[in-house]
Amino acid sequence: MDATRRTILVTSALPYANGPIHLGHLVEYIQTDIWVRFQKMRGHECHYVCADDAHGTPIMLRARQEDITPEVLIARIGEEHRADFAGFAIAFDHYHSTHSPENRELATLIYQRLREAGHISTRTITQAFDPEKQMFLPDRFIKGECPRCGAADQYGDSCEVCGATYSPSDLKNAVSVLSGARPIEKESLHYFFKLNDFTDMLRDWTRGGHLQPEVANKLDEWFEAGLQDWDISRDAPYFGFEIPGAEGKYFYVWLDAPIGYMASFKAYCARSGLSFDAYWQKDSGAELYHFIGKDIVYFHALFWPAMLEGADFRTPTAIFAHGFLTVNGQKMSKSRGTFIKARSYLDHLNPEYLRYYFAAKLSGGVDDLDLNLDDFAQRVNADLVGKVVNIASRCAGFISKRFEGRLAAECPDQVLYQEFVNAGESIAAGFENRDYSRAVREIMALADRANQYIDEKKPWQIAKDPEREQELHAVCSLGVNLFRVLITYLKPVLPRTAALAESFLQGGELRWDSPRTPLLAHAIAPYQALMTRVESTQVHAMLDASKENLQTTAPAVPVSGPLAQDPIQALISYDDFAKIDLRIARIVAAEAVPEADKLLRLTVDLGGERRNVFAGIKSAYSAEQLIGKLTVVVANLAPRKMRFGVSEGMVLAAGPGGKELWLLEPHAGAQPGLRLK
Ligand code: MSP
Ligand code: ZN
Repeated sequence: MDATRRTILVTSALPYANGPIHLGHLVEYIQTDIWVRFQKMRGHECHYVCADDAHGTPIMLRARQEDITPEVLIARIGEEHRADFAGFAIAFDHYHSTHSPENRELATLIYQRLREAGHISTRTITQAFDPEKQMFLPDRFIKGECPRCGAADQYGDSCEVCGATYSPSDLKNAVSVLSGARPIEKESLHYFFKLNDFTDMLRDWTRGGHLQPEVANKLDEWFEAGLQDWDISRDAPYFGFEIPGAEGKYFYVWLDAPIGYMASFKAYCARSGLSFDAYWQKDSGAELYHFIGKDIVYFHALFWPAMLEGADFRTPTAIFAHGFLTVNGQKMSKSRGTFIKARSYLDHLNPEYLRYYFAAKLSGGVDDLDLNLDDFAQRVNADLVGKVVNIASRCAGFISKRFEGRLAAECPDQVLYQEFVNAGESIAAGFENRDYSRAVREIMALADRANQYIDEKKPWQIAKDPEREQELHAVCSLGVNLFRVLITYLKPVLPRTAALAESFLQGGELRWDSPRTPLLAHAIAPYQALMTRVESTQVHAMLDASKENLQTTAPAVPVSGPLAQDPIQALISYDDFAKIDLRIARIVAAEAVPEADKLLRLTVDLGGERRNVFAGIKSAYSAEQLIGKLTVVVANLAPRKMRFGVSEGMVLAAGPGGKELWLLEPHAGAQPGLRLK
């Protein structure tokens, strides 16, 4: 066997089976799919598995709400997910469900091994309980006033206003989101995974080159805080697997979710004849990679390797985390129509556009990426339609009409062609390192070279001169061959366009090293358009459709993490708008509020009048940076009493959050106090 042939197993995170796939999810599935397709094109043995994450309270409740069993719900959503993924050409080798016999068996096995090795403990804990619904309440199902700043309507785990984290029992005037009842405290026996037993192993592992540097640094903070026992049990009623030997106790969804990677692969082995052990046993020579979003690093970089180690399985070769998607610079929002479902996109636009756009923006780190819809249309049209496809369409017509569809027997510019072939390794390195933006940049530089060649040779002029028939043939044949190299390099990103190009070129399946042998004296098929332009009407139709299905996509029950969706914003009338008193203010003093992670206390000058305002912009600005700046404030906001003082207005800023928060800054000549109309 070829010694350089690698054996690789790849996963993407398992999407929850209680909601549709949206464009945010697709960052991950497209990123992974490109990588897998690239590995396969290189000739490696690479398998890509995934599954629906079917367990947990939100899924149980959503099924109840629809008056169906969870099994019926997850079967339906599973079908929708598969169809959406197929629509985007995400080519899983196997797609499974965590609610499967394979997963039950493996979760039980891993739990039993951990227990036998002494890594499971039990203790009684007190938890919020809904006396009406007769069930324990996850933190996200309790709301109340923040114990630190007093903000109303905050979840049981953290405050979105001041950033405090706390336990639900600290909330003031707490209510159950499910029934509105006041939660009571109730005791229950819980099962814990003793993560601390693995502190040394995890310290080594997280520093062992298995994580991106920025992720490893984040983990250091967690180590410093000390690793806590992990609560892996939930009380009935719960949709999941009952813990063996513990009646009425279920595995917490996050225990069996990553085991779902193994379960999916196991089901795939049964179908394909692959050996499960060859990939998962301790000394396995296969590579194992998990692509995930940055929000679920804790589970994948701590719990998961520890569970595998404790249960005597191999640990992952690497975890690849990516950032979050924003649309037009903001968090996806239903009211703006930018909470775009995979299906809504597919109803209006070619999936290859999005695959290309994401590839052009992904660089292997954990930075967030923005889908700017104007830039999207412009970039796809300029690069794919204007540069790449254009090369084929400019040359192919002459080959069909003048040379009976046959390419010339010789290449007129070996140096140029070789340049294209030689670029392959550097582009491959870009794909390998998930720096797709670099790969795409290099491919587009080649496309520019090819177009420049055609522009210089001007085949449309040569064609007028009957004496130059051979030259015309040579130039157009080289053009087609250069196009072939480009589409080969783009094939992991644009599988469908590449398939169309393969039938046009008639040279068989394009593999990474196909460009080494150009097509000479070879018949090609008549050219047909490989891709059309993005029209802004299509983009707008998609946004409108995303607004229209607002009602049907409102979350049935609150969900945590990336699925948490912003509430549908009510429209306000012009009169409401006119009531807002916007004024220019100068920030004359600023200081951090030590008790609040996100807040700065500002003193703003409204042209003589000074106000005290708390602003949640500490992630983007230090107090010093702000002093002296002009900004816009809402001057007639009712004063709000917070724990650290009264806020007498609001500073306006825009952006997706974190470091990207921009203050509205009027030009320096504006006068504090000026009213904006
Ligand atoms: N079910 C868990 C994963 C279990 S893996 C053993 C989960 N599901 S999810 O549906 O919420 O998210 C699935 C993946 O999509 C996660 O990796 C998550 O980070 C990613 N994304 C969800 N929303 C996203 C964006 N807006 N942007 C980028 N990735 C996003 O977490
Ligand atoms: Zn608060």
